[in-house]
Amino acid sequence: MSKQEVIICQHFEEDLRTALARQTYDKLFILTDEHTQALCWPLLQDQECLKGATHLCIGPGDIHKNLETLAYVWHRLSNEGATRRSLLLNLGGGMVTDLGGFAAATFKRGIPYINVPTTLLSMVDAAVGGKTGINFNELKNEIGAFHPAATVLIDCQFLRTLDHENLLSGYAEMLKHGLISDTEHWSELVNFDMQHIDYDQLQRLVGKSVQVKERIVEQDPFEHGIRKALNLGHTVGHAFESFALQQHPVLHGYAVAWGMVCELYLSALRTGFPKDKLHQTLHFIQENYGRLSFTCEDYETLFNFMKHDKKNFSAGCVNFTLLGGIGDIRINQTATQEEIYELLDFYRETL
Ligand code: GLY
Repeated sequence: MSKQEVIICQHFEEDLRTALARQTYDKLFILTDEHTQALCWPLLQDQECLKGATHLCIGPGDIHKNLETLAYVWHRLSNEGATRRSLLLNLGGGMVTDLGGFAAATFKRGIPYINVPTTLLSMVDAAVGGKTGINFNELKNEIGAFHPAATVLIDCQFLRTLDHENLLSGYAEMLKHGLISDTEHWSELVNFDMQHIDYDQLQRLVGKSVQVKERIVEQDPFEHGIRKALNLGHTVGHAFESFALQQHPVLHGYAVAWGMVCELYLSALRTGFPKDKLHQTLHFIQENYGRLSFTCEDYETLFNFMKHDKKNFSAGCVNFTLLGGIGDIRINQTATQEEIYELLDFYRETL
């Protein structure tokens, strides 16, 4: 897989100009959704280097990350003369970068694209690492491809248009990167004041966070091994997310944060993760993310969600990424139904 260039922008206009100049393209297409069209495009529209580009705007949210929207993008590219040498610029959150990336991966067997992520979640996760795709058959990211962006331009100015819940949602993935990297980075993350955000400091933390992801993806671009470290918190997190969908949907990062509490507890039980660090992380999550309510009668439903994820379940056991300590990654760990019920007990008793 080709290596993508990730730029933490100091001077967005200049960085964008340089990124575009590095590509030789005949036509430029810009993909937004209705939200980023209204909120983020005005911050870019005066850039000389974007003049003359063709705009494609799609519906917002995961509900539009589907075959119909993808077909709309293919149609527009095809009808408006895109060639193999055309360039797509995705301006948006994870939905736009995932779907736009997949449109680029498949149109005429692959055209180059640039990601300009506008949410914290897409800056530190979705827009980086080459995973692209759409939801299909009621399954998330069921159809997709590894097709990295030529360049990812990260500019934290966009975070100022983001609501607090979406900031927290992205921050959960940063916390995950802290846990799988080193104590110093984890410590600055759990001590960051999310109630009074210092955006310069956040930009610095975002830079470090992206580096953690880049380092892992570089070692294992196709997720055969160490890239599974990025799944920390996601086995239980996805179950929480699906469970919440039945009543009141929660943002992905909230579910991951709660999932990390459970999986760090399992790490403490199984792989010796230090209890003091478990409690410090738990405290940060409790303060900022609150909790998801469920009772022991919901355990079976939650366990079934974990089993349903085929990637996670084999021979009666659910697969996890655990930690032996901060940065001490243990992939391919398994837990039985009994152990999973125990970590759900821990969650209900502590959070
Ligand atoms: N979001 C996890 C990964 O990129 O592998």
